[in-house]
Amino acid sequence: MKKLSDYPSEEPVLVTCGLPYASGEMHIGHLRTYVPADVFVRLLKKMQTEVRFVCGSDTHGTPVLTKAEKEGISPKELYQKYHQHYLETFPKLHINFDNYGTTDDPENIHRTLQIVEKIQEKGYIYPQKLESPYCPNCGRSLPDRFVRGECPYCHADARGDECDQGCGRYLEPGEILNPRCAICGSPTKKVERTHYYFELTAFEDFLREFLENVEGTKNAKNYALGWVNEGLRDWCITRDLDWGIPFPGDESLTLYVWVDAPIHYMSSTEQWAKKIGEPDKWEEFWLPGNAKLVHYIGQDIVYHHCIFWPSMLKASEYNLPFAIVASGMVKIEGHNFSRSRGYVVWIQEDYLDKGLDPDYLRYYMVAATSQTKDLDFSWETFRDKVNNELVATFGNFIYRALHFTNSNFGEVPEGVLDDALRIQIEQSVDAIRDAVNQYELKKVSDEILRLAAVGNEYFQANKPWELVRNEKEKAADILYNAVALVKALAIAIEPIMPRTAEVIWEQLGYQGDEIHQIPLDDALTPPKVGTKLPKPKPVISKVEDDLLEELENSFQNRIKKAKQAESGEPMIKDTIEFDDFKKLDFRAGKILKCERVPDTDKLLEMEVDIGIEKRKIVTGLADQYDPDDLEGITALFLVNLEPKKIAGIESNGMIIAVENKDEPGQWVPVKLEGVPPGSKAA
Ligand code: 2FM
Ligand code: ZN
Repeated sequence: MKKLSDYPSEEPVLVTCGLPYASGEMHIGHLRTYVPADVFVRLLKKMQTEVRFVCGSDTHGTPVLTKAEKEGISPKELYQKYHQHYLETFPKLHINFDNYGTTDDPENIHRTLQIVEKIQEKGYIYPQKLESPYCPNCGRSLPDRFVRGECPYCHADARGDECDQGCGRYLEPGEILNPRCAICGSPTKKVERTHYYFELTAFEDFLREFLENVEGTKNAKNYALGWVNEGLRDWCITRDLDWGIPFPGDESLTLYVWVDAPIHYMSSTEQWAKKIGEPDKWEEFWLPGNAKLVHYIGQDIVYHHCIFWPSMLKASEYNLPFAIVASGMVKIEGHNFSRSRGYVVWIQEDYLDKGLDPDYLRYYMVAATSQTKDLDFSWETFRDKVNNELVATFGNFIYRALHFTNSNFGEVPEGVLDDALRIQIEQSVDAIRDAVNQYELKKVSDEILRLAAVGNEYFQANKPWELVRNEKEKAADILYNAVALVKALAIAIEPIMPRTAEVIWEQLGYQGDEIHQIPLDDALTPPKVGTKLPKPKPVISKVEDDLLEELENSFQNRIKKAKQAESGEPMIKDTIEFDDFKKLDFRAGKILKCERVPDTDKLLEMEVDIGIEKRKIVTGLADQYDPDDLEGITALFLVNLEPKKIAGIESNGMIIAVENKDEPGQWVPVKLEGVPPGSKAA
């Protein structure tokens, strides 16, 4: 059993989130970590614990470099673009970091060098020759994501440094079997060069003890203990790459991205300390002492946070993580997350741009499943969560209670808090505290829903709508209790749905943004009698069927497009409206005359009878047809295309031809038989 005495904490807490690679837009997979971390931070604030929350963009390494090459821009231009995207998108989801920097910032470069030099001084870094893959075709060395091959452990197709499709293990350079260049597919050669290793094996005993004691979720700890027990290998911390922080012992090498990435947790804290004008304050968190470091990460990066990172911190004499919370991964409608196959939900395009409330997605990410389980996202389960839980239970109680009180009393009426209700609220406050101590936030949302259901039952059982007719005092007492429950619910929901909580707070007659500072314990204090209540509105709205259909259609379309792209078939163009189609005027045209346009290879000039008139139309079919082949035939023409000058001749329409799939470049006119010129197509 976990000890339940950690939070509220006497010591300050620093919460971090795994840094997103600044190489692509935010998608729903990211939120599996960022939302719970933000909720956790807000819950600690509600428990009056001093807490800071930092993160930043991961800008180095092959994830950024390969993407920059694909986009044809420099890695710096690439990361700046996506860093900006993250900076703007997090606040839209009410995820508010105290600092959000990048791993390329001077503070991070400085701190990384300081830590690496310290570890060198202590003798934990040594040189060793390494044979690693090189692509003779691209003429370069192939670190990490530049190489694919077979995982030596589970034999799945893997990346150079990670078995991303199989067992998830971290792979050392040179370890992958049957390597091939990830860019051009060529088989690789081996090149030998001196690299630098961190002596991880010297930290086995330390890690075993550290992992036995670290708080957080069991998955993180147990996986990592398993790896330590299997036996560790020393860790190659340099790469033959031009992008990243140069290794201080040999500047022709670059530090592996997983060296400087977690160090940004520290340098981001330094940036925050500078920003608030107390530049040494970061040390309160990072020098060994009493602060608690809590890392929220995805399950795929447990190795890096439970093995590499604590060993680096230990070797450089910094504070150690207090808790590591690893969340399960996100699947999309039962499929593994995959951008290329279309199994992805983009936060901006698929969610925010549809006008959906970010609070609903926050609730969903917390309430859908336990923190450590995989979450299978679908629009249908999203709709069900919103409609069946938020609307039918939570929102329904809030609106009924406030609406009825407002219309009959206009203010918080006179009453006494019912003992049974007080016990219910106390139970919820305790359950929320326990959930925080177990890093299991689904229990928070479950508890809030339970309390809202208590509210609905209380309202239903006491029938204030009957009492108000001839027992007004009794009605007042019931509504006083109902409003007290609304207040408790507003406080409890704030960490998960901060904007919704503001609205409820306003409906209770307070200033909305004050809710963020109200402690959890205030849930037990009913609002003051006589507080004026404004006219309420429902705080949650249903996800309607036509919106659900739109969301599902655009998801299915993306998968269809991805399949088409994979099969190499040309994509079906975007759907057009029928009214647009009606604008096209297709008619049968008889080619009366056809001759080559002098001094051109491809052009034919035709005189075409389109029924009502004769037209001059120029086409580029001369490399495939003699004028005689076409003269006299009837074919399909588009006759309302704007006139265009081709080789000095004005062409008034276009012959419709199809490209032979088996002979690309061969165009076959759509011939018509048995219809007079001018017959219309539709
Ligand atoms: O896996 C990733 O997406 C990495 N960018 C996470 C880095 S977390 C850290 F340690 F900085
Ligand atoms: Zn594997």
